[in-house]
Amino acid sequence: MSANSRPDTAAPDAALPRSLTLVGAGKMGGAMLAGWLAGGLDPRRTTIIDPQAPPEIRVLCAARGLGLNPAKPPVSEALVLAMKPQGLEGAAAGLAPLIGPDTLVVSILAGKTLTNLRDRLPGARAIVRAMPNLPASIGRGATGAVASTAVSAQQRAQAQALLASVGLVEWLDDEALIDALTAVSGSGPAYVFLLAEVMAQAGVAAGLPADMAARLARSTVSGAGALLESNPREAGALRQDVTSPGGTTAEALAVLMRPGGLPDLMREAVDAARRRAGALAG
Ligand SMILES: NC(=O)c1ccc[n+]([C@@H]2O[C@H](COP(=O)([O-])OP(=O)(O)OC[C@H]3O[C@@H](n4cnc5c(N)ncnc54)[C@H](OP(=O)(O)O)[C@@H]3O)[C@@H](O)[C@H]2O)c1
Repeated sequence: MSANSRPDTAAPDAALPRSLTLVGAGKMGGAMLAGWLAGGLDPRRTTIIDPQAPPEIRVLCAARGLGLNPAKPPVSEALVLAMKPQGLEGAAAGLAPLIGPDTLVVSILAGKTLTNLRDRLPGARAIVRAMPNLPASIGRGATGAVASTAVSAQQRAQAQALLASVGLVEWLDDEALIDALTAVSGSGPAYVFLLAEVMAQAGVAAGLPADMAARLARSTVSGAGALLESNPREAGALRQDVTSPGGTTAEALAVLMRPGGLPDLMREAVDAARRRAGALAG
């Protein structure tokens, strides 16, 4: 369960940092912030830096006592970067005074490598580069993370607690693998949306009214996703469970899984995304 769905009365997550500054409180930053506060982050030791913070963030800051764009932001135990990646260069000089020798910097800036972050923020020692995906915005994300060598065990636990507030966290030892992870979980939600889209189109081609086909495809994809989440068995085993020999599902899967079919296409698609992620990094 993500911390976003924790009741406010739950015990505070002891691994969360004691003070935190969030830079960029948009979709992703705002979702993480909600999770951290639900997990027990002290709002009075939380600072938001976002010159054009969305109205709901302004309301939250006023209601719960978070600092919002203070003239002299504090040096916090953790600094989370969640503005647009292209904003890093312009923001770097202003961020330098917020980074102490023991500050953990967590970046979710797509494509910004540990080297980029170190170059732009020379005062930062402990850096975690993370790659969440779109469902993180509803607390159901899958995030990949990689830590610089200066990150201590305690800081890694803090980063884990921060990122887990929006879903699953997977740690990578090799930063290069973040491109592969981006190709699977980062871009993955679009593959699933495409599945719902083309299932609906196929339903129309088979004679169903368009609005009904769209509802059926959407509900089937989300319902199957929920089953996948609630059942520990592997996806392939679940697929086999619902495939009777000689039945309708087996007939469809024989088409989808033939040479050049979905498994081959997915491998090609993920490889294309992985190569693109590598080319865009920097
Ligand atoms: N959304 C995703 O699915 C996803 C997935 C993986 C990674 N990410 C990463 O998450 C980060 C945030 O994405 P998002 O979708 O949450 O974007 P977003 O909704 O546009 O949020 C970014 C926020 O940062 C603010 N901002 C811009 N420049 C700033 C600065 N210099 N200092 C402080 N705040 C600044 C923006 O304000 P303005 O609107 O006024 O510019 C906005 O409120 C990006 O780096 C992206 O690569 C997002």
